[in-house]
Amino acid sequence: MPPGAATGRHVQPRPRHLALQPKALKETPNVTSSLEGRIAVVTGGASGIGEACARDLAARGAQVVVADVDEPRAQAVAFSIPRGVAGRLDVTRPDDIETVADWVEREYGPPAILVTSAGVLQPPLAPEELPIETWDHVVAVDQRGVYLSCVAFGKRMALRGGGAIVNIASVAGLRSLPLHAYAPAKAAVIGMTQALAAEWGRSGVRVNAVAPGFVMTPALRSAVDAGQRDPAALAEASAMDRLVAPEEVARACSFLASDDASAITGITLPVDAGWLVAGSWHGYGGLRPARMGGGRDGGEP
Ligand SMILES: NC(=O)c1ccc[n+]([C@@H]2O[C@H](COP(=O)([O-])OP(=O)(O)OC[C@H]3O[C@@H](n4cnc5c(N)ncnc54)[C@H](O)[C@@H]3O)[C@@H](O)[C@H]2O)c1
Repeated sequence: MPPGAATGRHVQPRPRHLALQPKALKETPNVTSSLEGRIAVVTGGASGIGEACARDLAARGAQVVVADVDEPRAQAVAFSIPRGVAGRLDVTRPDDIETVADWVEREYGPPAILVTSAGVLQPPLAPEELPIETWDHVVAVDQRGVYLSCVAFGKRMALRGGGAIVNIASVAGLRSLPLHAYAPAKAAVIGMTQALAAEWGRSGVRVNAVAPGFVMTPALRSAVDAGQRDPAALAEASAMDRLVAPEEVARACSFLASDDASAITGITLPVDAGWLVAGSWHGYGGLRPARMGGGRDGGEP
């Protein structure tokens, strides 16, 4: 028996007729993905996937706070979107995050949406070669930073009784890769997404993650330029034989943040052009070519 059930501390039985009603649907039969009037905070919103999320959320009507350690770039993105606002924060610093959370609430109102995209990549070094300082930094930003951001904004959402958090995980958190700091940090993001979803579910806060595949952002471009990633090989390893666009990740984030996902919490949604499902085919001769134009297995000429 789980500890909560044994003591009765966490389990509050309700009459059965009350327990099974999907309240939100009863009250709002016509849900829409418009985010009009909502305040959204995007950490790492100055670049790449975070920037695409900021743009997509703004296009759907949200007022977006672009929160990033790169303040000039955050301002440039904020100025280029409707109702955009920029804030400086380093997600490794709890005080920074609390300060931004207080400031947003005071100046603009309570955030209804948090997207945690602040993150760093790492070189694919053997553990014997990977400096522990690099490991510490990757875990500080990609794991601890996501947790701190979730707690700062999620606890405020929980007290108000509503909100949606979308964490940017990675396919690296779902498969073994030679990224000994990054991949475990992303697995931890998936784990914390599940636990926080359970923690705040009764308070109306949904917590989900997306797991992007390989997205040609400034971060991935730097890794390619440094000879640490091969984009053609990454594309070839996916079912759809291509990389993922930042906007495709952003659309999945906006869906999870919207009322269209009103009963979805605790999940990790891959947005990976089928990279996760294709890898295991390599032991069976690899993926078959496209059928269009008369491939190996037929199709229209
Ligand atoms: N690009 C990919 O292929 C890919 C794939 C899967 C997951 N991701 C994840 O997506 C997220 C965004 O990555 P990206 O590729 O868009 O990178 P990016 O470098 O383009 O953007 C990351 C942003 O995070 C900011 N940032 C870094 N450290 C910070 C800190 N301590 N505090 C606040 N902001 C900080 C940077 O200034 C930058 O604006 C990361 O979590 C990354 O792990 C990326």
